Amino acid sequence: MSSPHSSRTLFAVVVFSASFALSACVGTGPVASPPAKGPLVVATWPFGKIATELSMQALRDGRSRLDAVETGIREIERLSSDGSVGLGGGPNAAGYPQLDACIMDGPGHRAGSVAGLEGIVHPISAARAVMEHSKHVMLVGEGARWFALEHGVASVDVQDLAAKKAAWVARQRDPNPDRSGHDTVTVLVLDAEGHVAGGCSTSGAGGKLPGRVGDSPILGAGLYVDDEVGAAGATGIGENVMRYCATFWIVELMRQGRHPQAACEEVLHRIARIDPRGYALDICFIALDKQGRHGAAASSHRFPYAVTSTAASEVLHVEPVTRR
Ligand code: GLY
Repeated sequence: MSSPHSSRTLFAVVVFSASFALSACVGTGPVASPPAKGPLVVATWPFGKIATELSMQALRDGRSRLDAVETGIREIERLSSDGSVGLGGGPNAAGYPQLDACIMDGPGHRAGSVAGLEGIVHPISAARAVMEHSKHVMLVGEGARWFALEHGVASVDVQDLAAKKAAWVARQRDPNPDRSGHDTVTVLVLDAEGHVAGGCSTSGAGGKLPGRVGDSPILGAGLYVDDEVGAAGATGIGENVMRYCATFWIVELMRQGRHPQAACEEVLHRIARIDPRGYALDICFIALDKQGRHGAAASSHRFPYAVTSTAASEVLHVEPVTRR
Protein backbone atom coordinates (compact mmCIF):
# COMPACT_ATOMS: atom_id res chain seq x y z
CA MET A 1 0.00 0.00 0.00
CA SER A 2 1.38 3.43 -0.86
CA SER A 3 2.16 5.87 1.92
CA PRO A 4 0.61 9.38 2.05
CA HIS A 5 4.04 10.67 1.14
CA SER A 6 4.27 8.61 -2.05
CA SER A 7 0.70 9.59 -3.00
CA ARG A 8 1.67 13.24 -2.66
CA THR A 9 4.75 12.61 -4.77
CA LEU A 10 2.69 10.86 -7.43
CA PHE A 11 0.20 13.74 -7.44
CA ALA A 12 3.03 16.26 -7.83
CA VAL A 13 4.51 14.30 -10.72
CA VAL A 14 1.12 14.11 -12.46
CA VAL A 15 0.50 17.85 -11.96
CA PHE A 16 3.99 18.74 -13.18
CA SER A 17 3.69 16.49 -16.23
CA ALA A 18 0.26 17.86 -17.08
CA SER A 19 1.35 21.48 -16.73
CA PHE A 20 4.47 20.86 -18.80
CA ALA A 21 2.47 19.21 -21.57
CA LEU A 22 0.02 22.12 -21.45
CA SER A 23 2.71 24.78 -21.63
CA ALA A 24 4.23 23.01 -24.62
CA CYS A 25 0.85 22.94 -26.39
CA VAL A 26 -0.75 26.28 -25.65
CA GLY A 27 0.49 29.07 -27.85
CA THR A 28 4.04 27.84 -27.90
CA GLY A 29 4.05 25.32 -30.69
CA PRO A 30 4.16 21.58 -30.92
CA VAL A 31 3.82 19.18 -28.02
CA ALA A 32 7.30 18.65 -26.63
CA SER A 33 8.93 15.91 -28.64
CA PRO A 34 9.26 12.46 -27.04
CA PRO A 35 12.64 10.77 -26.88
CA ALA A 36 13.80 9.32 -30.20
CA LYS A 37 16.76 7.15 -30.95
CA GLY A 38 19.40 8.88 -33.10
CA PRO A 39 20.37 9.71 -35.64
CA LEU A 40 18.39 12.92 -35.69
CA VAL A 41 19.08 16.29 -37.33
CA VAL A 42 17.44 19.62 -36.49
CA ALA A 43 17.91 22.94 -38.29
CA THR A 44 16.59 26.49 -38.37
CA TRP A 45 14.01 27.70 -40.93
CA PRO A 46 12.34 25.90 -43.84
CA PHE A 47 15.57 26.00 -45.85
CA GLY A 48 16.99 23.95 -42.99
CA LYS A 49 15.09 20.93 -44.33
CA ILE A 50 17.43 20.86 -47.31
CA ALA A 51 20.31 20.80 -44.83
CA THR A 52 18.82 18.23 -42.43
CA GLU A 53 18.06 15.81 -45.26
CA LEU A 54 21.56 16.08 -46.70
CA SER A 55 23.03 15.72 -43.22
CA MET A 56 20.95 12.59 -42.62
CA GLN A 57 22.03 11.19 -45.97
CA ALA A 58 25.66 11.78 -44.99
CA LEU A 59 25.08 9.81 -41.78
CA ARG A 60 23.33 7.03 -43.70
CA ASP A 61 26.35 6.91 -46.01
CA GLY A 62 28.49 6.19 -42.97
CA ARG A 63 30.06 9.62 -42.78
CA SER A 64 30.81 11.34 -39.47
CA ARG A 65 28.54 13.73 -37.57
CA LEU A 66 30.90 16.60 -38.50
CA ASP A 67 30.64 15.64 -42.16
CA ALA A 68 26.87 15.65 -41.69
CA VAL A 69 26.91 19.16 -40.19
CA GLU A 70 29.25 20.49 -42.86
CA THR A 71 27.45 18.83 -45.79
CA GLY A 72 24.06 20.23 -44.81
CA ILE A 73 25.32 23.75 -44.21
CA ARG A 74 27.47 23.82 -47.36
CA GLU A 75 24.37 23.27 -49.45
CA ILE A 76 22.60 26.27 -47.90
CA GLU A 77 25.75 28.34 -48.44
CA ARG A 78 25.92 27.12 -52.03
CA LEU A 79 22.27 27.90 -52.73
CA SER A 80 22.59 31.23 -50.94
CA SER A 81 18.99 31.73 -51.92
CA ASP A 82 17.59 33.22 -48.76
CA GLY A 83 19.58 36.45 -48.70
CA SER A 84 21.04 35.54 -45.32
CA VAL A 85 23.60 32.77 -45.78
CA GLY A 86 26.64 32.59 -48.04
CA LEU A 87 28.00 35.04 -50.56
CA GLY A 88 24.48 35.76 -51.84
CA GLY A 89 23.51 36.95 -48.36
CA GLY A 90 22.65 40.53 -47.49
CA PRO A 91 25.64 42.82 -48.01
CA ASN A 92 26.94 45.07 -45.27
CA ALA A 93 26.44 48.83 -45.28
CA ALA A 94 29.38 49.27 -47.64
CA GLY A 95 27.80 46.88 -50.12
CA TYR A 96 29.59 43.54 -49.74
CA PRO A 97 28.97 40.38 -47.71
CA GLN A 98 31.01 39.49 -44.64
CA LEU A 99 30.30 35.98 -43.44
CA ASP A 100 30.34 34.27 -40.02
CA ALA A 101 30.29 30.55 -39.18
CA CYS A 102 31.23 28.05 -36.53
CA ILE A 103 31.27 24.31 -35.95
CA MET A 104 31.46 22.36 -32.69
CA ASP A 105 31.86 18.69 -31.87
CA GLY A 106 30.64 17.10 -28.64
CA PRO A 107 33.40 14.53 -28.11
CA GLY A 108 36.55 16.42 -27.17
CA HIS A 109 34.60 19.69 -26.96
CA ARG A 110 36.35 20.89 -30.12
CA ALA A 111 35.32 23.97 -32.04
CA GLY A 112 36.30 26.21 -34.93
CA SER A 113 34.96 29.59 -35.92
CA VAL A 114 35.42 32.32 -38.53
CA ALA A 115 34.06 35.86 -38.59
CA GLY A 116 34.02 38.78 -40.98
CA LEU A 117 35.09 36.43 -43.78
CA GLU A 118 35.17 37.94 -47.28
CA GLY A 119 34.96 36.10 -50.59
CA ILE A 120 34.88 32.57 -49.19
CA VAL A 121 32.14 30.35 -50.61
CA HIS A 122 31.88 27.94 -47.67
CA PRO A 123 32.54 29.60 -44.30
CA ILE A 124 31.49 26.38 -42.52
CA SER A 125 34.39 24.56 -44.18
CA ALA A 126 36.73 27.36 -43.15
CA ALA A 127 35.48 27.00 -39.56
CA ARG A 128 36.08 23.25 -39.68
CA ALA A 129 39.59 23.84 -41.03
CA VAL A 130 40.30 26.15 -38.08
CA MET A 131 39.14 23.41 -35.71
CA GLU A 132 41.03 20.59 -37.37
CA HIS A 133 44.16 22.28 -38.67
CA SER A 134 45.06 25.00 -36.18
CA LYS A 135 45.62 25.37 -32.47
CA HIS A 136 43.06 28.17 -32.41
CA VAL A 137 39.31 28.34 -32.12
CA MET A 138 38.49 31.56 -33.97
CA LEU A 139 39.98 33.49 -36.87
CA VAL A 140 38.63 36.77 -38.24
CA GLY A 141 38.82 38.96 -41.33
CA GLU A 142 41.85 38.82 -43.58
CA GLY A 143 43.56 36.15 -41.46
CA ALA A 144 40.51 33.93 -41.68
CA ARG A 145 40.37 34.37 -45.46
CA TRP A 146 44.08 33.60 -45.81
CA PHE A 147 43.68 30.46 -43.68
CA ALA A 148 40.66 29.32 -45.69
CA LEU A 149 42.57 29.80 -48.95
CA GLU A 150 45.54 27.90 -47.53
CA HIS A 151 43.20 24.99 -46.84
CA GLY A 152 41.61 24.97 -50.24
CA VAL A 153 38.20 26.41 -49.38
CA ALA A 154 36.66 27.80 -52.58
CA SER A 155 36.84 31.57 -52.94
CA VAL A 156 35.89 34.46 -55.17
CA ASP A 157 37.88 37.57 -55.98
CA VAL A 158 37.61 40.36 -53.41
CA GLN A 159 39.66 43.00 -55.20
CA ASP A 160 36.84 45.52 -55.32
CA LEU A 161 35.81 45.40 -51.65
CA ALA A 162 38.22 48.13 -50.52
CA ALA A 163 36.86 50.35 -53.29
CA LYS A 164 33.29 49.64 -52.17
CA LYS A 165 34.17 50.55 -48.61
CA ALA A 166 35.95 53.74 -49.69
CA ALA A 167 32.93 54.75 -51.75
CA TRP A 168 30.66 54.13 -48.76
CA VAL A 169 32.88 56.25 -46.49
CA ALA A 170 32.93 58.99 -49.13
CA ARG A 171 29.11 58.92 -49.23
CA GLN A 172 29.13 60.13 -45.61
CA ARG A 173 28.34 56.82 -44.11
CA ASP A 174 25.56 56.37 -41.62
CA PRO A 175 27.16 55.16 -38.38
CA ASN A 176 23.90 53.34 -37.52
CA PRO A 177 22.66 51.89 -40.78
CA ASP A 178 19.28 50.22 -40.94
CA ARG A 179 19.72 46.49 -40.81
CA SER A 180 17.59 43.86 -42.39
CA GLY A 181 17.49 40.09 -42.73
CA HIS A 182 19.48 38.11 -40.24
CA ASP A 183 18.55 34.51 -40.72
CA THR A 184 21.11 31.86 -40.00
CA VAL A 185 21.30 28.21 -40.91
CA THR A 186 22.04 26.29 -37.73
CA VAL A 187 22.25 22.50 -37.87
CA LEU A 188 22.34 20.20 -34.82
CA VAL A 189 23.18 16.52 -35.26
CA LEU A 190 22.73 13.53 -32.93
CA ASP A 191 24.47 10.51 -34.43
CA ALA A 192 23.63 6.83 -34.01
CA GLU A 193 26.24 6.49 -31.24
CA GLY A 194 24.56 9.25 -29.24
CA HIS A 195 27.17 11.97 -29.82
CA VAL A 196 26.23 15.52 -30.77
CA ALA A 197 27.69 18.17 -33.07
CA GLY A 198 26.49 21.42 -34.58
CA GLY A 199 27.30 24.26 -36.88
CA CYS A 200 25.96 27.53 -38.16
CA SER A 201 26.58 29.93 -41.01
CA THR A 202 25.27 33.38 -41.87
CA SER A 203 25.95 36.57 -43.74
CA GLY A 204 24.69 38.31 -40.61
CA ALA A 205 22.40 41.27 -40.50
CA GLY A 206 22.17 42.91 -43.92
CA GLY A 207 23.30 46.53 -43.81
CA LYS A 208 25.50 45.94 -40.74
CA LEU A 209 28.56 48.08 -40.22
CA PRO A 210 31.64 46.58 -41.86
CA GLY A 211 33.39 44.53 -39.20
CA ARG A 212 30.24 43.78 -37.24
CA VAL A 213 30.24 40.23 -35.88
CA GLY A 214 26.99 38.60 -34.77
CA ASP A 215 26.17 35.68 -32.52
CA SER A 216 26.69 32.89 -35.04
CA PRO A 217 30.47 32.43 -34.76
CA ILE A 218 30.48 33.01 -30.99
CA LEU A 219 30.41 29.76 -29.01
CA GLY A 220 27.72 29.82 -26.36
CA ALA A 221 25.85 32.53 -28.27
CA GLY A 222 24.85 31.31 -31.75
CA LEU A 223 25.80 27.68 -31.04
CA TYR A 224 26.76 25.47 -28.14
CA VAL A 225 27.37 21.74 -27.99
CA ASP A 226 28.03 19.63 -24.91
CA ASP A 227 28.35 15.90 -25.36
CA GLU A 228 27.03 15.20 -21.87
CA VAL A 229 23.80 17.05 -22.59
CA GLY A 230 22.99 18.06 -26.18
CA ALA A 231 23.19 21.13 -28.38
CA ALA A 232 21.43 24.44 -28.99
CA GLY A 233 21.50 27.01 -31.78
CA ALA A 234 20.13 30.46 -32.44
CA THR A 235 18.91 32.65 -35.27
CA GLY A 236 17.69 36.24 -35.33
CA ILE A 237 19.24 39.48 -34.20
CA GLY A 238 22.66 38.41 -33.01
CA GLU A 239 23.06 41.29 -30.58
CA ASN A 240 20.02 40.04 -28.66
CA VAL A 241 21.50 36.54 -28.43
CA MET A 242 25.15 37.19 -27.72
CA ARG A 243 24.54 39.52 -24.78
CA TYR A 244 22.97 36.58 -22.95
CA CYS A 245 25.17 33.59 -23.92
CA ALA A 246 21.81 32.16 -24.89
CA THR A 247 22.72 28.73 -26.27
CA PHE A 248 25.08 28.00 -23.39
CA TRP A 249 22.21 28.90 -21.08
CA ILE A 250 19.79 26.57 -22.92
CA VAL A 251 22.23 23.67 -22.70
CA GLU A 252 22.76 24.30 -18.99
CA LEU A 253 18.99 24.20 -18.39
CA MET A 254 18.84 20.91 -20.30
CA ARG A 255 21.64 19.62 -18.06
CA GLN A 256 19.39 20.39 -15.09
CA GLY A 257 16.70 18.18 -16.63
CA ARG A 258 14.65 20.52 -18.80
CA HIS A 259 13.22 19.23 -22.05
CA PRO A 260 14.81 21.13 -24.99
CA GLN A 261 11.46 22.83 -25.69
CA ALA A 262 11.15 24.01 -22.10
CA ALA A 263 14.80 25.12 -22.00
CA CYS A 264 14.43 27.22 -25.18
CA GLU A 265 11.25 28.84 -23.87
CA GLU A 266 12.68 29.51 -20.42
CA VAL A 267 15.75 31.29 -21.80
CA LEU A 268 13.54 33.46 -23.99
CA HIS A 269 11.40 34.43 -21.00
CA ARG A 270 14.44 35.20 -18.89
CA ILE A 271 16.03 37.34 -21.62
CA ALA A 272 12.74 39.17 -22.12
CA ARG A 273 12.56 39.83 -18.37
CA ILE A 274 16.03 41.39 -18.35
CA ASP A 275 16.08 43.15 -21.70
CA PRO A 276 14.60 46.65 -22.13
CA ARG A 277 13.07 45.42 -25.40
CA GLY A 278 11.00 42.82 -23.55
CA TYR A 279 9.86 40.21 -26.08
CA ALA A 280 10.58 42.45 -29.09
CA LEU A 281 13.89 40.67 -29.53
CA ASP A 282 13.47 38.97 -32.91
CA ILE A 283 15.35 35.85 -31.84
CA CYS A 284 14.65 32.11 -32.10
CA PHE A 285 16.26 29.00 -30.68
CA ILE A 286 16.47 25.30 -31.50
CA ALA A 287 17.75 22.58 -29.19
CA LEU A 288 18.37 18.85 -29.25
CA ASP A 289 19.30 16.60 -26.36
CA LYS A 290 21.14 13.30 -26.11
CA GLN A 291 17.86 11.39 -25.75
CA GLY A 292 16.80 12.62 -29.18
CA ARG A 293 14.25 15.11 -27.87
CA HIS A 294 14.12 18.48 -29.64
CA GLY A 295 12.39 21.82 -29.25
CA ALA A 296 12.32 25.42 -30.43
CA ALA A 297 11.11 28.81 -29.28
CA ALA A 298 10.65 32.24 -30.83
CA SER A 299 10.37 35.64 -29.19
CA SER A 300 8.20 37.57 -31.55
CA HIS A 301 7.07 35.69 -34.66
CA ARG A 302 6.15 32.23 -35.89
CA PHE A 303 9.30 30.17 -36.33
CA PRO A 304 9.62 27.16 -38.62
CA TYR A 305 12.35 24.62 -37.99
CA ALA A 306 13.28 21.40 -39.73
CA VAL A 307 13.54 17.97 -38.12
CA THR A 308 14.79 14.87 -39.94
CA SER A 309 14.94 11.41 -38.39
CA THR A 310 15.48 8.06 -40.05
CA ALA A 311 11.69 7.76 -40.27
CA ALA A 312 10.48 11.23 -41.27
CA SER A 313 11.46 14.70 -42.38
CA GLU A 314 9.30 17.73 -41.68
CA VAL A 315 9.15 21.42 -40.99
CA LEU A 316 7.56 22.15 -37.61
CA HIS A 317 6.35 25.55 -36.47
CA VAL A 318 6.38 27.22 -33.08
CA GLU A 319 4.32 30.29 -32.29
CA PRO A 320 5.98 33.10 -30.34
CA VAL A 321 6.21 32.23 -26.64
CA THR A 322 3.21 33.26 -24.61
CA ARG A 323 4.30 36.37 -22.75
CA ARG A 324 4.42 36.14 -19.01
N1 GLY B 1 22.05 35.70 -36.13
C1 GLY B 1 22.87 36.20 -37.14
C2 GLY B 1 23.37 37.54 -36.89
O1 GLY B 1 22.74 38.34 -36.22
O2 GLY B 1 24.40 37.85 -37.41
